[in-house]
Amino acid sequence: MAIDLTIKVAGEGGEGVISSGDFIMQAATRSGMEVMTFKSFPAEIKGGYALSQVRISDEKILSQGDGFDILVAFNGEAYEVNKPLLKPGTVMVWDGPHGGDFEAEEHEGVQMFAVPMSDIAKNTLKNYIAKNMVAMGAVIELFGLPEDSLKSSIHDKFIKKGQAIVDFNYQAIELGRQWIRDNYPDRDVKYTFPASTAQKDVIILEGNQAISVGAVIGGAKFYGAYPITPATSVGNHLVDIMHQTGGVVYQTEDEISALATVIGASFTGKKAITATAGPGISLMQELIGLAVMSEVPIVVADVQRGGPSTGMPTKHDQSDLFACALGGHGDAPRVVLAAANVQDCVDLTVDALNLAEKYQTPVMLLSDASLSIQTEAIPRPNVADYEIVDRDFAKPQPDPSIFNRYQITDSGVSPMGAPGIPGTNYAATGLEHAEDSGPRTNPETRNAMTEKRWRKFDGIEDAYKPIEREGEDGDDLGIICWGMTQSVTREAVARLRAQGHKVSALYPKMLWPMPQKQIEAFAKSVKKVVVPEANYQGQFADLIKMRTNVVPIKFNAYRGEPLIPREIEAMALELLKEEAPKARMAIH
Ligand code: COA
Repeated sequence: MAIDLTIKVAGEGGEGVISSGDFIMQAATRSGMEVMTFKSFPAEIKGGYALSQVRISDEKILSQGDGFDILVAFNGEAYEVNKPLLKPGTVMVWDGPHGGDFEAEEHEGVQMFAVPMSDIAKNTLKNYIAKNMVAMGAVIELFGLPEDSLKSSIHDKFIKKGQAIVDFNYQAIELGRQWIRDNYPDRDVKYTFPASTAQKDVIILEGNQAISVGAVIGGAKFYGAYPITPATSVGNHLVDIMHQTGGVVYQTEDEISALATVIGASFTGKKAITATAGPGISLMQELIGLAVMSEVPIVVADVQRGGPSTGMPTKHDQSDLFACALGGHGDAPRVVLAAANVQDCVDLTVDALNLAEKYQTPVMLLSDASLSIQTEAIPRPNVADYEIVDRDFAKPQPDPSIFNRYQITDSGVSPMGAPGIPGTNYAATGLEHAEDSGPRTNPETRNAMTEKRWRKFDGIEDAYKPIEREGEDGDDLGIICWGMTQSVTREAVARLRAQGHKVSALYPKMLWPMPQKQIEAFAKSVKKVVVPEANYQGQFADLIKMRTNVVPIKFNAYRGEPLIPREIEAMALELLKEEAPKARMAIH
């Protein structure tokens, strides 16, 4: 039987919850297991509820899953929040029996192990920060986590703080182990950590690291950005990579300047990208319009967070789709892609750069706060497997005065002059313009240029990768989803189909321009269509209604957390028994 084990560490921000989850994840990966993490923490540096969940399997993991098998509760809040999820069969390791800030009750069918982590850290080790490592020691002893790999992860993380810190943490681990040996000598623990299997040729990446890897594979040579949660680490990772591969990472004074530098870099002929979050997207709208009008290829990665305004900087949301597809003023076409998992973060960043070059357009790449720090082991990317597209640069010209940068073409795309190409004119203008780039406002030119800018995308649905579909024609329910909700839906659909339910799913990666033909064909092939997404309005459902003949049912979560497979499954079961289609459903 497949291994499928989820360990959740929960406590207060500042107690080392996130590090503990990372150590478990690294140990599992070193054992040759598949892993997927889910982390959530407040916007404060210290305090508030933080969790780090690691799902471990010997088979491909599709999503974060529905819950946990093992809970490590660092404090009373972690216990209270997770109490309803302590089902028979789960195991809890908690900060007790005395010395922590709570007393746990008995829960039927739940194995409980009290480990006085706070007490040992404060009174024996005289340093509260060691609490998490006392807990890790207990976890090792209880579930057989390999100590060597945990210790080597601890060494790698803390050696920059000094050997004394490393040794101190090793000591904390030993005390946690010893507590279990002394107090639970006859334990019969329900779960054991999977034994090592063959190491796979994988790399462990977070979503934001994967965007930076994709940027370099796709040929980006410039990254200009202003730091913003949860997008900042894209630039941090690019600094490391571009030191080796060549390129420039430039931190600007705000998001407007950031996109201006990206447009400037691309204007010189280099592939350029930025990453930001919702507030940055709001500020960048004017310059996205400039890139549309001047036909300069750019990529903007939007790592979405809960908005509007400052909103919930560290929380999951899928609510920037309208802003990315429709934001700004004027008739401004652009492309929007959305990543569902870490592999997509690599692949779609390459696609985004390719599409920007091919169509000389802005491409928006959507990720989100959860995906930005979600860790997965993915096959080591082979650069040679990626097709890389370069823009249509103009050939050297005999006379710059006759070069038409905005030449009207059937495809809508015109060869681009760039500084250094002799005899080309390399204007980039935000004013409406004639073919030679000179300002014009007469109706004929305006019509021709507007139509040229939109004509570029006439065939994009056929030119881009076909949308993956699960299920068969005639199914009772069709689910269309985007971004991280795709990963969750895949798991739910697999379960529903295994139970014999006729449920299909469509997984578009390009959301805009709307892949109208494939959405309409899918909708025609099933009895009802539902669009689950993590926003209040049902933004993709509305865009589908606007640009196709399909009127989907909306299913929305807007609580700052991703949907989980069980919720999609329950929604589908409800819709399967309903005769009359609902217009809207929500989950809180
Ligand atoms: N020994 C020594 N150091 C330890 C340790 C141990 N046993 N366990 C943890 N630490 C250190 C970690 O290395 C980390 O230090 P670093 O930042 O120098 O790497 C620190 O203690 C915090 O531990 P960590 O496990 O990373 O996080 P946490 O679970 O305690 O939660 C966060 C803290 C993540 C919630 C918080 O730091 C944070 O980043 N909040 C979000 C801030 C933000 O983005 N706000 C939005 C602004 S718009």
